[in-house]
Amino acid sequence: MRHFLSLADISSAELTALLDAAARLKKDRFAADPNLTGRTLAMIFEKPSLRTRTSFDVGMLQLGGRGIYLSPAEVGLGRRESIADVSRVVSRMVDFVVLRVNAHESLEEFARHATVPVINGLSDLSHPCQGLADIFTIREKMGDLRRVQIAFIGDGNNVAHSLMLAAALSGARLRVATPSGYEPHPKYRELAAAAASASGAAVEVANDPIAAVKGADVVYTDVWTSMGQEQEYERRRRAFNGYQVNAALLAHAKRDAVVMHDLPAHRGEEITDDVLDGPQSVVFDQAENRLHAQKALVAWLAREAVR
Ligand code: CP
Ligand code: NVA
Repeated sequence: MRHFLSLADISSAELTALLDAAARLKKDRFAADPNLTGRTLAMIFEKPSLRTRTSFDVGMLQLGGRGIYLSPAEVGLGRRESIADVSRVVSRMVDFVVLRVNAHESLEEFARHATVPVINGLSDLSHPCQGLADIFTIREKMGDLRRVQIAFIGDGNNVAHSLMLAAALSGARLRVATPSGYEPHPKYRELAAAAASASGAAVEVANDPIAAVKGADVVYTDVWTSMGQEQEYERRRRAFNGYQVNAALLAHAKRDAVVMHDLPAHRGEEITDDVLDGPQSVVFDQAENRLHAQKALVAWLAREAVR
């Protein structure tokens, strides 16, 4: 049985197979999967969600199963009941669990006690379902990932970490530009470097947004203040001055570059309205692709679980 806590949990070949499966499911979106008939996926979320919750819920329905959503108030993960006990109980009733947690360790603790596949629906450290949909979107828009130059501008956060691993596994080139002190976590830099050396990818981290965007095919940004960091809002706004994805910055990318954002966006902070709503933006295709990519993921985990 496999979990999906991080993109470091899968190989380059497995990632390619998932992207191929996602493309097939996107073409034939109401095709049920016999392995998913009558199966249940529980979502236990400690933070709000629009895309992640809706895509798993709708995805399970289309595959022939169902999703159930358990809110923070109901479960009280680690407060009303220990993480280990919630994991043991839920494992007896459902077939997959998606967790959205404040602390990545909660996810690891849950997975240690689970007897069904556990999927990371976002933690403070990573957002691999987003990374999966992102690299699927980039392949869909650009073709051969080994020829693609991606720029990520902003916070070296959970979304950046997963994009780094997705790029590294797929042979793409990625330049990350963050303000000093907001670089990606060293562990994710190491994981990305290891995967990149095997695939021929290049993942670079620096502080100059213009240099990162120069000649890029894809310009990606995410919020400066993630969920749970609200008390740092003012400090972060100051620190990220100069890292906004706006028309002036985008002018340094290739003329046909696409703009990506995992959403929700803080419009007017990390990205301007004209860029987010402009002709180069693919953010709503990217959001839709969460559905197709995660259906491929659940179908794969179901097959891995019965092997
Ligand atoms: N991008 C993303 O994960 O969105 P939600 O927080 O709405 O699920
Ligand atoms: N970095 C953001 C992503 C939201 C999908 C956050 O963690 O809030």
